[in-house]
Amino acid sequence: MFGPADQETWIRVDEYVSDLLAPDDEALEHSVAGAVEAGLPAIQVSPPQGKLLALLARSIGARKALEFGTLGGYSTIWLGRALPADGHLITLEYEPSYAEVARVNLERAGLAEKVQVRVGPALETLPTLEDEGAGPFDLIFIDADKVHTPEYFAWSVEHTRPGGLIVADNVVRGGALVDESDPDPAIPAQRRFHEMLAAEPRVEATTIQTVGVKGYDGFSIALVNG
Ligand code: SAH
Ligand code: DHB
Ligand code: MG
Repeated sequence: MFGPADQETWIRVDEYVSDLLAPDDEALEHSVAGAVEAGLPAIQVSPPQGKLLALLARSIGARKALEFGTLGGYSTIWLGRALPADGHLITLEYEPSYAEVARVNLERAGLAEKVQVRVGPALETLPTLEDEGAGPFDLIFIDADKVHTPEYFAWSVEHTRPGGLIVADNVVRGGALVDESDPDPAIPAQRRFHEMLAAEPRVEATTIQTVGVKGYDGFSIALVNG
């Protein structure tokens, strides 16, 4: 077994992998710089994670995708680019000012046509999507407020096609996932989410722990049975 490394090493390895396999181009770089400049928190997925989202989308031939939590649109750009020219991505963002930053970034990335940013608390936007007959989606990325991951997942299961994927970010949270006494309400929410994954016969899922520029965390991937 390999022994534990430290945060500094995780960052160096993430940078090594990013440079070779997931290099930021102008639009991606600008999306982060613009977000930082506008005062948004730098909590976007890492470059290798963005690339993973894109690879997952391409591996299932995703055309329609949904994202919970846009921030400045960094993961949105990775996902949007992975869709074909006639593909479509809807991304949900609570903060109007973040959504505006994201719109500028998406425009600069040439994705204004393909990506629609919807402003508001996701739980309030979902009924609208439902009324519009949006979906079924090929891929859904859940990365908004972590206390609602279980609700977002419940909706996503109903709106993802067989053979589609549901990915959820930030489920391990420095290992707090297994701490039943953690006072952060996001923790019982991630535990409930995992219990849902286990009990839901329509999906097969796993969780992968990650280290890197974002510290120690992890993501879940659920395949909707076809
Ligand atoms: N997916 C982005 C990061 C998202 S950070 C990336 O990797 O690049 C989480 C985002 O969810 C923040 O922008 C936050 O404002 C948003 N958010 C928080 N609560 C929300 C809610 N109830 N509905 C929709 N978005 C929400
Ligand atoms: C936070 C949100 C994220 O989506 C993330 O990947 C890391 C941190 C946050 O809200 O702090
Ligand atoms: Mg995240």
